[in-house]
Amino acid sequence: MINKNSNYINDIFNNVSYKYDFFNNLFSLGLHFLWKRKLISLLKPKNGEVWADLCCGTGDMTFLLNELVTPSGKVFGIDISEKLLKIAQRKSNNLGNTVIYWKKKDIFDLDPNLRKFDGICMSYGLRNLKNVEDGIQKVFFLLKDNGRAGFLDFNHSKENSLSSIFQKLFLRFVVVPISSFFNLKKEYSYIENSIKEFPKGAKLICLAKKIGFKEVKYKTLFGEQMGILLLKK
Ligand SMILES: C[S@@+](CC[C@H](N)C(=O)[O-])C[C@H]1O[C@@H](n2cnc3c(N)ncnc32)[C@H](O)[C@@H]1O
Repeated sequence: MINKNSNYINDIFNNVSYKYDFFNNLFSLGLHFLWKRKLISLLKPKNGEVWADLCCGTGDMTFLLNELVTPSGKVFGIDISEKLLKIAQRKSNNLGNTVIYWKKKDIFDLDPNLRKFDGICMSYGLRNLKNVEDGIQKVFFLLKDNGRAGFLDFNHSKENSLSSIFQKLFLRFVVVPISSFFNLKKEYSYIENSIKEFPKGAKLICLAKKIGFKEVKYKTLFGEQMGILLLKK
């Protein structure tokens, strides 16, 4: 089991912060933007709604939400990593943006009785939480009735399938060696272990139904490398 206490996770993301966007673009060849756009297109945020991007990192999803809920709505970008949030804020200032509220916070410390969001998204965040079920539960509490949520993360393809072999080889023989040049071996080795412990799509569906979401769907993307969990409260 990986130690996923808040300090450990915070250290990992603060350490990688200065190369975070660079490596995301490099290792996905820019495709992560397409997957994030796909999630947003499925969630259909509308002008006037209030949305949160939980575990927002440097804010890719937050900015996409901002484009759609403005001018009347609001977006909250929430993350525990001070350094990633600083990068997000810098980008936001450069855009001259005013509707994004950046908050440095552990999502588990958000008031569960807020019930204020029309929608919540999380890209590559759920896998990094200390408890996945508690994370989905938290999202349930934070949403208004009929609110929708979407989570994008790595998918487990069938064991020994080409897709699953590709994922392992790519992480071990491309991601880890390249990140080692920047002294980030420990941080990027963490990805493979975190995927191992992350529930499969079918399990995520069960957890969401148990928590009480009335609509639950799971889709895969990019040869089953990525998965999207879509929920309606
Ligand atoms: C892999 S990054 C994803 C960032 C961004 N959403 C993206 O798609 O590029 C995971 C993020 O989750 C954040 N995180 C992990 N646990 C958290 C928690 N309990 N509360 C808030 N943020 C958390 C980390 O700080 C990190 O920014």
